[in-house]
Amino acid sequence: MKIELTAIEKSFGSLQALKALHLTIPSSSFVSLLGPSGCGKTTLLRIIAGLEEADSGTIMMNDTTIYSSEKHIQVPPQKRGIGMVFQDFALWPHMTVYENVAYSLKATGKRKALRDKVKTALKNVQLESYSKRYPHQLSGGQQQRVAIARAIANDPAVILMDEPLSALDATLRDDMRILLQSLVKQLKMTAIYVTHDQNEAMAMSDHVVVMNSGEILQQGAPEDIYHYPCSKEVASFIGKGTIWDGLMIHKGEQPYVKIDTDFLIQLAKQEKYKSLGGECTMVIRPEHVRLSQVSFHHAQIGEVETVSFLGERYEVTLQIGKNKRRLFAYSSERLTPGQAIYFTIMSDSIHFINQIGGLSHETA
Ligand SMILES: Nc1ncnc2c1ncn2[C@@H]1O[C@H](COP(=O)(O)OP(=O)(O)O)[C@@H](O)[C@H]1O
Ligand SMILES: [Mg+2]
Repeated sequence: MKIELTAIEKSFGSLQALKALHLTIPSSSFVSLLGPSGCGKTTLLRIIAGLEEADSGTIMMNDTTIYSSEKHIQVPPQKRGIGMVFQDFALWPHMTVYENVAYSLKATGKRKALRDKVKTALKNVQLESYSKRYPHQLSGGQQQRVAIARAIANDPAVILMDEPLSALDATLRDDMRILLQSLVKQLKMTAIYVTHDQNEAMAMSDHVVVMNSGEILQQGAPEDIYHYPCSKEVASFIGKGTIWDGLMIHKGEQPYVKIDTDFLIQLAKQEKYKSLGGECTMVIRPEHVRLSQVSFHHAQIGEVETVSFLGERYEVTLQIGKNKRRLFAYSSERLTPGQAIYFTIMSDSIHFINQIGGLSHETA
């Protein structure tokens, strides 16, 4: 089911929660809405579900208009064929697992084959043997699985999930993430997943929509957003990285970015840099920094500031030059804070962001 939002606006009093938002969600895709708390993610989800009415705009599901301010169309939630999972599970405490899942089916008036549907839904979340229990007899993870079963029981074409894993502890979150991903693909649903956790968004989605202050800052495949962020804001929100302002200069054929008087970064001699110069902003991901304890060709020197063990590698911050510029890098061995370290930055992998949000990766 394709979902298309056109110029969706929503205000609460003087607060503009969504600002003329345009978004297309392809059929059977897994799309994440990613952004800090208060940026309008829940509001957008509730508007798609029909639990909240927008002030203006249009929402289409395939060729059907489910909301239009102009045409005064507002299809009620239960007629939209959408399942929803909330952060706080929202189960009925006085109902068993079975009754909780069956409840949503009764609400849509489909009594026929109800028992089978509930059974299938519980089987899909591996809770078949828990149908007689009450929510308080279940762990947090099991409760959230009941909520998922309830959302999928009626075979919705679309499932909306509002930070469904944020109340769970880290290990459980990983298990549930995999369960959700495989369930969405298996049932061929279109999924919209709200999170403020960039790792979750990057890991689960086909498409990530980065939001702030009721606006979409950037959207695309997780890899594109990670490698080619369009602004400092997106770059700092997605993944680890170093963001530096500098001055692009040329010494003969050789382009550089001057970060400080004592710190220049040599760029690859590429055609695209020839016509560029002046102020620029660059993003350097830690995996594009090479470290060595001994000097090597073109290496510059810095000082190890912090070392964090991440299991498969160490995350290191370096300080460079008289202004102690901080650079993120990875190391396969444990380094010692305060020690000297040689580094180069893989110049092909530097991503430039124009100060005015301009230079895309094609032109930079
Ligand atoms: N029912 C409401 N009444 C007034 N303000 C609201 C209401 N719902 C949300 N808001 C405000 O709208 C903004 C967006 O909220 P929300 O969509 O919940 O953000 P998010 O889910 O991204 O954290 C916030 O500033 C929030 O306080
Ligand atoms: Mg929210």
